[in-house]
Amino acid sequence: MRLKDKVCIITGAGQGIGKYYAKKLAGKGAKIVVAEYNEESGQAAANEITSNGNEACFIQTDVSNENSTINMAEKTVQKYGRIDVLINNAAIFASLGFKSYDQIPVDEWDRVMAVNLKGLWFCCKAVIPYMKEQKKGKIINTSSSAWDLGRAQYLHYVTSKAGVVGFTRGLAKEVGDWDINVNCVSYAGVITEIERESYNTDAQQWVMNQQCIKRPGAPNELVGTIIFLASDDSDFISGQTIHPNGGFYFH
Ligand SMILES: NC(=O)c1ccc[n+]([C@@H]2O[C@H](COP(=O)([O-])OP(=O)(O)OC[C@H]3O[C@@H](n4cnc5c(N)ncnc54)[C@H](O)[C@@H]3O)[C@@H](O)[C@H]2O)c1
Repeated sequence: MRLKDKVCIITGAGQGIGKYYAKKLAGKGAKIVVAEYNEESGQAAANEITSNGNEACFIQTDVSNENSTINMAEKTVQKYGRIDVLINNAAIFASLGFKSYDQIPVDEWDRVMAVNLKGLWFCCKAVIPYMKEQKKGKIINTSSSAWDLGRAQYLHYVTSKAGVVGFTRGLAKEVGDWDINVNCVSYAGVITEIERESYNTDAQQWVMNQQCIKRPGAPNELVGTIIFLASDDSDFISGQTIHPNGGFYFH
């Protein structure tokens, strides 16, 4: 059990990649906090884990609201006594459609930044005091090939995911003295149970053809990197961005 008794907060774990991680990490012995905005999906994800005999709870969290993230950290420590891992997975993502740079409504731009970037900062600020006390912690952020490749029609999302990489490097420098590792994973297209206009079957096939390893990008192909970054095996890695993308492009 590689993550036995590690307390892992996963934001946005009510669906998609985060939900898959929650189930898999629980299977590796972790105690999972599903920190999700959507009450129904978040509670259902936690229930699914506990009904399989593993440990999880749901804490309703809006990562873009600082008080909500403070509550997330406090409730986690009340329930499980510590915070070992924070996986910053929540984002405004699957609900976004293509829009040119001059057609993105200002409130949509602001919401993407509030969740994808400010939310990351709030979640880190909320958990780091506990990790500093423990003199150990793992923070895993989530970026995207969209910014490496400069994906068109998605400017707010692309900008937010570029910011995640800079944020990771800067924060890693600030918290290393407490043995807190801050790393980032950057995915290319990942197929989940949520259908997206932005990643139809033609796009999926095109991406797979460019990869060295020609299997579809799916959460089961990513989770090994997450388990590694959450585990003690990655204790000397910080500030890095890892690209589990089947060799779609190189960094
Ligand atoms: N799926 C892909 O192809 C892909 C590719 C690259 C990067 N990513 C990144 O991976 C992560 C997960 O992707 P996904 O496909 O599962 O996304 P998704 O949109 O399906 O799921 C995101 C989850 O975050 C939650 N969420 C949204 N706002 C929130 C808030 N304010 N507070 C708490 N939770 C909130 C949603 O309710 C949802 O459960 C995201 O950061 C995304 O940007 C995904």
